[in-house]
Amino acid sequence: MKKQIQVGVVGCGYWGPNLVRNFRAISDCRLKAMCDLDVQRLAHLKSLYPEVEGETEYAHMLNGIGLDALVIATAVRTHFPLAKAALLAGKHTFIEKPMASSVAECEELVDIAKKKGLVLMTGHTFLYSAAVRKIKEIVDSGDIGEIRYISARRLNLGLFQKDINVAWDLAPHDISIIQYIMGDQPVRVNCQGSAHVTPGIEDVTSMCLTFRKQQTAIIQSSWLDPRKVREMTIVGSRRMIVYDDCAPQEKIRVYDARVDRPPHYDTFGEFHYAYHYGDVYSPYIKQEEPLKVECQHFLDCIRTGATPISSGQKGLELVQVLEASSESLKRGGAAIDLPFRPELNGLPRREAPLASAIKSVSAAMVGQAGRAEKPGVSLAHSVHAS
Ligand SMILES: NC(=O)c1ccc[n+]([C@@H]2O[C@H](COP(=O)([O-])OP(=O)(O)OC[C@H]3O[C@@H](n4cnc5c(N)ncnc54)[C@H](O)[C@@H]3O)[C@@H](O)[C@H]2O)c1
Repeated sequence: MKKQIQVGVVGCGYWGPNLVRNFRAISDCRLKAMCDLDVQRLAHLKSLYPEVEGETEYAHMLNGIGLDALVIATAVRTHFPLAKAALLAGKHTFIEKPMASSVAECEELVDIAKKKGLVLMTGHTFLYSAAVRKIKEIVDSGDIGEIRYISARRLNLGLFQKDINVAWDLAPHDISIIQYIMGDQPVRVNCQGSAHVTPGIEDVTSMCLTFRKQQTAIIQSSWLDPRKVREMTIVGSRRMIVYDDCAPQEKIRVYDARVDRPPHYDTFGEFHYAYHYGDVYSPYIKQEEPLKVECQHFLDCIRTGATPISSGQKGLELVQVLEASSESLKRGGAAIDLPFRPELNGLPRREAPLASAIKSVSAAMVGQAGRAEKPGVSLAHSVHAS
């Protein structure tokens, strides 16, 4: 029998308990300890899981209790110091999204993990959802043609954060999905936004990502909307996909719809756009909890040494976009170029297959929301007037 991986979860606030529940339910590991500075939160979790040790001292998680892996679900500004200490103590480390407060911090964590041969993974939960994987499969099959643009809306009322804007809070989900579907990193970011409730903290933002082939993605994030909306439209040259994560069924619909421009015409009277309206179909999607697949994938990567789908490198690439968005916001929406790095842009990378994680996860409920905290901004980018 395989030795169980000894896991500890740090941060038992809003999201941490979901990680606690999932790691506790996976037989491949033993959830040995939970840690929170807040004794009341810890007491609550202890009442649910009395067999799991409760710690208020993070240092105890690093030494003495024999953990192989740490899972960090605390405020974003604390991700870097906690994760750095975990990696230096030789623990495989899973950090909730966004991975850290700056690209420099992410780079340091990626570097330490590499030098120490440890798994570093970040919580891009939607990459483990069956719906997003199905979209990726459809796009990669060429069925929708070339992606022209993607638009995403993630809106609801609150939850207002005190030191983070809505882009750092909600957009990581959309950015990670878009980067995954496009298989590429944007080359340019524009972001505009406004603060209506807390001065200086944008509660509505609109971000535009530009990719190399002039493909764009527009991400609207809001804490000021009466409805909960999680929608994404992927417009291809042949077909279009609409993904509604709030829909109880038929989360994905593929529309056989497109418009073509005539190649040439001699008179205005001859000019007609060619609209095509065809069938709409909704592919079958297996119900499973993305977070459970994600937790199992972390354990699989520890066992096999494979690179996680949401690796530290991917966490870094996402924070790069967020940093650029903050810079753009400061400059009234100016275009911020991301440095072109061939190792980030469009080259295939060897990643762990998800099959074993999916196989070992039984059908469960779906549903998640994002909350995070505001990191600082420290990037020197080249700037274009918008
Ligand atoms: N993947 C997702 O879908 C998803 C969803 C929601 C939140 N998140 C992420 O989860 C993380 C936590 O968010 P949250 O909303 O649960 O925050 P939260 O503020 O509700 O909880 C954080 C907890 O961490 C504890 N904590 C802080 N510093 C600590 C330390 N040094 N040692 C031990 N405990 C400490 C706090 O006491 C608190 O209980 C964020 O990174 C957020 O972005 C991810």
